[in-house]
Amino acid sequence: MNMGEPRAAAPAPKTVLEISAFSLWYGEKQALYDVTMSVPEGKVTALIGPSGCGKSTLLRSVNRMNDLIDSVRTAGDICLHGDSIFAPGVDVITLRKRMGMVFQKPNPFPMSIFENVVYPLRIDGERNRQVLAEVCERSLRGAALWDEVKDRLPESGLSLSGGQQQRLCIARAIASEPEVLLLDEPCSALDPLSTNKIESLIQELSGSYSILIVTHNMQQASRVSDFTAFFYLGRLVEYGPTANLFGAPAAAETRDYVRGRFG
Ligand SMILES: Nc1ncnc2c1ncn2[C@@H]1O[C@H](COP(=O)(O)OP(=O)(O)O)[C@@H](O)[C@H]1O
Ligand SMILES: [Mg+2]
Repeated sequence: MNMGEPRAAAPAPKTVLEISAFSLWYGEKQALYDVTMSVPEGKVTALIGPSGCGKSTLLRSVNRMNDLIDSVRTAGDICLHGDSIFAPGVDVITLRKRMGMVFQKPNPFPMSIFENVVYPLRIDGERNRQVLAEVCERSLRGAALWDEVKDRLPESGLSLSGGQQQRLCIARAIASEPEVLLLDEPCSALDPLSTNKIESLIQELSGSYSILIVTHNMQQASRVSDFTAFFYLGRLVEYGPTANLFGAPAAAETRDYVRGRFG
């Protein structure tokens, strides 16, 4: 969004994710300290900060991907639409289905473009050709890739360019209509043109999706996000409407970082 746009003055949107006093340790090493923030629904929220400050750790906590690491211990809570993701009885597979995740490096599966997109439905056992075809088209349109691939759906997803592969991964992530889209530096392996495309796509998807995006690129955060959270050494230093955070940062660390003095 542009600086000074009055969007930030709109009524506070609903919360999709409520992160409360959340801390995380990898063994003895604490990576997140007492993070509290609510992620608004239907908006783009950017996590920024220097490398190693805990952005990816927080993103991976939200869909409990850190469960896969034995040494991880957490404190505090994270609620998705009001329900704790750590509550007893929460099925982690179901939880992860409620969130689409896209990583730094595009990771299409070694299968056709079509099968890549409908993969989340396939693993749920959907076999109806027409349903699959509809979801494929809707998701590829949603990911701004349909026009480029509609005549080559049976071809391998790996035959696409890097930027197209990343949009394919976004199509796959939105195929199951997740409640949150988690993007971890989705443009860092892409050229500037593909980056532009993904950035416009993120803006198109906001409104329909709640997006949490990690980026080390401050220009990108200021272009695509409604809200920005600045992390430093595992702590949430400042969080607010993107225009305020970049235009009038409150904390000295935020000011130094957004002005490019370190990072
Ligand atoms: N699997 C892991 N095991 C141990 N330490 C980790 C692991 N992943 C990340 N860390 C550490 O946690 C801190 C935060 O890392 P990370 O969340 O990847 O930061 P960012 O995404 O902001 O660059 C860093 O000090 C990093 O070395
Ligand atoms: Mg990271």
